[in-house]
Amino acid sequence: MSALDLVYMTEDASHDAAITVINENAFGPGRSTRAAERVREQGGHDRSLSYVCANRGETIASVRMTPVFAGLVAGHLLGPLAVSPSYKNLGIGRQLVRIAVLAAEQAGSEAVILVGDLPYYRPLGFEPVMHKALDFPGPVDPARVLALCCQGVSPDRLRGVLRHRLLGPADI
Ligand SMILES: CC(C)(COP(=O)(O)OP(=O)(O)OC[C@H]1O[C@@H](n2cnc3c(N)ncnc32)[C@H](O)[C@@H]1OP(=O)(O)O)[C@@H](O)C(=O)NCCC(=O)NCCS
Repeated sequence: MSALDLVYMTEDASHDAAITVINENAFGPGRSTRAAERVREQGGHDRSLSYVCANRGETIASVRMTPVFAGLVAGHLLGPLAVSPSYKNLGIGRQLVRIAVLAAEQAGSEAVILVGDLPYYRPLGFEPVMHKALDFPGPVDPARVLALCCQGVSPDRLRGVLRHRLLGPADI
């Protein structure tokens, strides 16, 4: 691969087509059935906290953030996170997570929640959520529900229904 010229930037509509391809390559057609995807479909993601990485103008990786309530905690659901196959293992995924978490924290998010592999996310500050404490709109492996709490929020508060914040606490 020729020398990299990586730029991390906030997502906008011009990245949509490339992100669709990256996510389809990474997750395949079954993605829409995932519980986390169902939460995202409830109201869409927040572009201002979602990021892409581009190499010489080509979008090669993406992370999206969706505003959610986790019980009464106003946080964000991180994902999908995906990196184009030829750019894996260069630290791009980790950097996107760090950038998105910092941005969410600065925007006042009380917790960043995701469904993913603990060995990947623990070094980035994520810990397992208490077993089955969060109800997703579909089946999810409880061992893969991870969170990073912000603003001094106690992990014990992460309990109840996980839903898009557009729905509001009164809509459940
Ligand atoms: C997972 C993914 C986002 C990682 O991005 P990346 O830029 O390739 O990863 P990074 O360079 O930041 O980190 C690489 C390290 O993470 C490890 N790693 C990658 N995927 C992992 C996983 N699922 N579980 C544990 N470790 C993982 C690599 O082995 C490597 O370890 P090393 O640093 O000890 O060599 C990327 O591989 C991808 O797009 N995968 C397909 C989609 C996916 O699974 N997304 C995550 C949902 S949980």
